[in-house]
Amino acid sequence: MSDFNYNATVSKIYVWCFNNSSHNKLYTDFLNQSNLDIRPGDKVLDAGCGDLFLTRLFLNEYSRHRNIHTQVSAFDKSKYMLRYAQKNAVKFNSHIKLFHANGLKIPFPDNSFDFVMTSGMLEYLTNNFSQAAHELTRVLKPGKQMLISFDRDTLMGRLSGKIWGFKPIPQKQFQKHFKEIDLQEFKVDSDSIYAQLFRRFYIGIKK
Ligand SMILES: C[S@@+](CC[C@H](N)C(=O)[O-])C[C@H]1O[C@@H](n2cnc3c(N)ncnc32)[C@H](O)[C@@H]1O
Repeated sequence: MSDFNYNATVSKIYVWCFNNSSHNKLYTDFLNQSNLDIRPGDKVLDAGCGDLFLTRLFLNEYSRHRNIHTQVSAFDKSKYMLRYAQKNAVKFNSHIKLFHANGLKIPFPDNSFDFVMTSGMLEYLTNNFSQAAHELTRVLKPGKQMLISFDRDTLMGRLSGKIWGFKPIPQKQFQKHFKEIDLQEFKVDSDSIYAQLFRRFYIGIKK
C-alpha cells in the first residue's frame, strides 16, 4: 500500500486544486453522457471519496437533474478528507453515510451495492491492486455497474504521481485484476487536452 497520507495540509491543497473547472467539467460531462444504470432507491458506494467530489457531481446529475434518488455511502482512509466530506454533505443537504475505512478491507458484506464508483483511489493501491479490485467487486451486486476513474500511466500521469504520491496503473495490467467485471473504457465526447493527458473512465458490469 502507498504510505502517502492525505494529512491536513495535503487535503487542503487537494480540495483547493481539484474543484477547479476542467476537472469538474470533465466529470460533469462524463456523468451526463454515460447514462449509467441508476434506479430510484439504489444503494451507491463512493470508495476513496475524498471531499465527496464525485458523489456531489453524481447527486447533482441523478438526484437534481434526473430526479432519481439514491442512498449513498462513502468512505475514505483520511480523516482529514472526511472532514471536508462531512462539510460538503451538509452543504449538499443530503443524507450521505460517511465511513472511515480502507479500500483494502471495505466494511460491507458481499453484494451490498447497486452501484460502486471510485475516482483517484486505485492509483494509491497499485502494489495491492488485486486485493483492491477484489474488494470493490465483492461489495457490488451481480449484474450491477462499477465506475472507475484513474490517472493514466503517461508522462503527465507519472509526474502527477510524483507530486501526489501515487503510482499510475499500467492500463493493460489494470483490467486483468477485475476478473469478475467486464470493464469498458468510456470516452467523454468533449475530451479535453486535460482528459487526454490525465484521466480515464471505465464502466463495468459484474458477471
Ligand atoms: C486523489 S484523491 C480522490 C478523492 C475523490 N475520490 C476525488 O475524485 O476527488 C484520493 C483519495 O483516496 C484516498 N485513499 C487513498 N488510499 C486509500 C485507501 N487505501 N483506502 C481508502 N481511501 C484511500 C485518499 O485519502 C484520498 O482522499
